[in-house]
This record gives sequence, structure tokens and C-alpha cells, in this order.
Amino acid sequence: MSPIQNIVILTGAGVSAESGIDTFRDAGGLWEQHRVEDVATPEAFARDPDLVLRFYDMRREAIQTKEPNAAHRALARLDAEWPGELLIITQNVDDLHERAGAKRLLHMHGEHLNAWCTGCDVRSLWTGPLLDRPACSACGVAGHLRPDIVWFGEMPYRMDEIYHALNRADLFVSIGTSGAVYPAAGFVREARAAGARTLELNMEPSQGSYWFDEARHGPATALVPAWVEEVLEQ
Ligand code: NAD
Ligand code: APR
Repeated sequence: MSPIQNIVILTGAGVSAESGIDTFRDAGGLWEQHRVEDVATPEAFARDPDLVLRFYDMRREAIQTKEPNAAHRALARLDAEWPGELLIITQNVDDLHERAGAKRLLHMHGEHLNAWCTGCDVRSLWTGPLLDRPACSACGVAGHLRPDIVWFGEMPYRMDEIYHALNRADLFVSIGTSGAVYPAAGFVREARAAGARTLELNMEPSQGSYWFDEARHGPATALVPAWVEEVLEQ
């Protein structure tokens, strides 16, 4: 089997579940507590901005009380020690990968701790609430800040970089995602088409399990450190 040089990793809400951040589609998940149509679409924001801002203010506040877990730390170790190309693409909007030390990281659905000014189009670090319509730190105008989150129907960020990495991958590893949302759910097929081996690490089979060469099921805090150890020793 040819040696692995270039690794692409996709993470989803499952990698942060053991840090205490709700996933979306597990029992009791976020989409059982709130309707996507009410809080995670541009139409929802136009219809009732206060409801959407309150939802994201609550999520932003909750995330800042959480800590990275062993899966985030293992991926940060791989990032530091892997000599070849590596890209961690996350669908998550929390900052636990960064706080664990990951550097080669891409948030395709945006980041909770950023705000996006629809007036001047600048994205800036924002840890406080947006409900009281604060002024943008770049243009100084109040009332134009929205969560820097990619909503349903919006395009994810940096897709060119993502497809470039997938086309060069020797190994694609999907961690903690249900494979329910595109385009992330299609990345495994892009990687396969480029000749990469594919591995799924998830609590249970995802909607895309069929496309993976190998699947290991269990908690990310057990599976990810073991896999990182394995791949660093190869
Ligand atoms: P979609 O319509 O393809 O939905 C895909 C999956 O999302 C569905 O299989 C379902 O599991 C879930 N979903 C969709 N509508 C839902 C609902 N009303 N209630 C519960 N679950 C629902 O998604 P889309 O609109 O085509 O989104 C694709 C684009 O939006 C992509 O760019 C994706 O990256 C982005 N996105 C971002 C977020 C986010 O919260 N950051 C969420 C979803 C999608
Ligand atoms: N360890 C490993 N996997 C886990 C764990 C865990 N401790 N806990 C849950 N999982 C798995 C679940 O089995 C599920 O397959 O993580 C997956 C979480 O799936 P979702 O809740 O659908 O989250 P995700 O796949 O990240 O959702 C994709 O949908 O709503 C949008 O923007 C949102 O980025 C999100 C996208």
C-alpha cells in the first residue's frame, strides 16, 4: 500500500459532543430543540432577526464554557507532527479545534466567535451578544452585524481550497458527522475519485458509510487518539 503523504480530515458536531456541545441530529439534538426554518436560514433572519440573534448569542455563550476533548487534542498533535500535507475541514462553528492547538484548519460553515458586518463586509472576532445591535468594530455602524455562520441554503466558505485538498488527498478521514448535509457529505466521493483511501470514525454508521473503505464506530475521544497514534507510526 503506497505511503500516506496528504491527509484531509472532515469533522462534524460529533467531535465536540464529548465536550458538552449538542450535536444537531442525535436524540435531543439542536434540531429537536429548534426548527432550522426559525433559526438557521437567511429567510429566518429577515423574518425575525431577534429570534435568530438570541439563538446564536445563547450558543456563543454556551460554547465559551466548553473545553476541547481528547479527539481535538489528538488532531492538534497530528497537525503538529504530520510532515506531509494536512487539512482539517470542520463543519463546526465552535473554536475547540483552535483551542486544542490545530493550525491547518478550515471552518466551512463559519465561526461562532466571529461576527459579519453586512454593511462593510468585514468579519471580526466577536465574543459578546449581537442582540443589542452593537456597532461594527471596522466601520463603526451599528445594526449591521450578523453571526458569521453559513445558514441552510448559503454557500460554505473556501470551497476552492477544499476541493484542491481533496484532489490531492491520499487519505480522507471523516469524524463525527452524520453525512446529512451537502456539500460536506459528498467530500468522501471527491476523495475516492482522486484515489484516496477513506476512513469513517463515528459513533454509528453515517448516511455516507457506503462510500468509506473502512469504518470504526465508537466515541471520538477513544477512536481519534488511537487512529492518530497509528498513522504517526506508519
Ligand atoms: P439541505 O436542504 O441539503 O439539508 C441537508 C440536511 O440538512 C437535510 O438532510 C437535513 O438533515 C438537514 N435539514 C435541512 N433542512 C432541515 C430542517 N428544516 N430541519 C432539520 N434538518 C434540516 O441543506 P441546504 O439548504 O442545501 O444547505 C446546504 C448549504 O447550507 C450548504 O452550503 C451547507 O454547508 C450550508 N449549511 C450550513 C448550516 C449551518 O448551520 N452552518 C446548516 C446546514 C447547511
Ligand atoms: N463520537 C463520535 N461520533 C459522535 C459522537 C461521539 N461522541 N456523538 C455523536 N456522534 C455522531 C453521531 O452519530 C452523528 O452521526 O456525530 C454525528 C453528528 O451528526 P449531526 O448532528 O448531523 O452533525 P453534523 O454531521 O456535524 O451536521 C452537519 O448540519 O445543521 C448543519 O451546520 C450544521 O454543520 C452542521 C451540519
